[in-house]
Amino acid sequence: MNTKTILALACFISLALTGTARAADMHTRVIAATCMACHGPGGKSLSKDIPDLTGLEQDKFVQLMKEFKSGERESTIMHRHAAGYTNAEFEAMGAYFAGLK
Ligand code: HEC
Repeated sequence: MNTKTILALACFISLALTGTARAADMHTRVIAATCMACHGPGGKSLSKDIPDLTGLEQDKFVQLMKEFKSGERESTIMHRHAAGYTNAEFEAMGAYFAGLK
């Protein structure tokens, strides 16, 4: 491969990756928005019965979601919300909520 081909490929790959990153980000924001119906706008809960998600550490978030999904952690409603998502989605949502102030 000559330098031009390598450069063109590098451009193509970085463009492709940017596209994926954006798509994932949109997907994460859309699913996270469904949580905000209860956990409040931006993950800041408006009710004392529902915990905040804002600023929750990613690892802690992922652990809680896995425990809700498996039923290991008692919940009134969260086992149903956790059931529909994959571990990759828990990771992505965790990073998103951890980044919210
Ligand atoms: C219908 C209301 C409702 C929706 C929608 C909802 N939650 Fe919850 N969430 C709760 C309640 C209530 C609790 C307390 C545990 C329980 O009783 O289920 C909770 C607890 C949690 C906790 C534990 C927090 C802690 O510090 O203990 C996490 C994490 C969480 N929810 C994440 C989410 C995510 C992510 C979504 C969206 C995929 C979501 N929730 C959607 C009501 C909701």
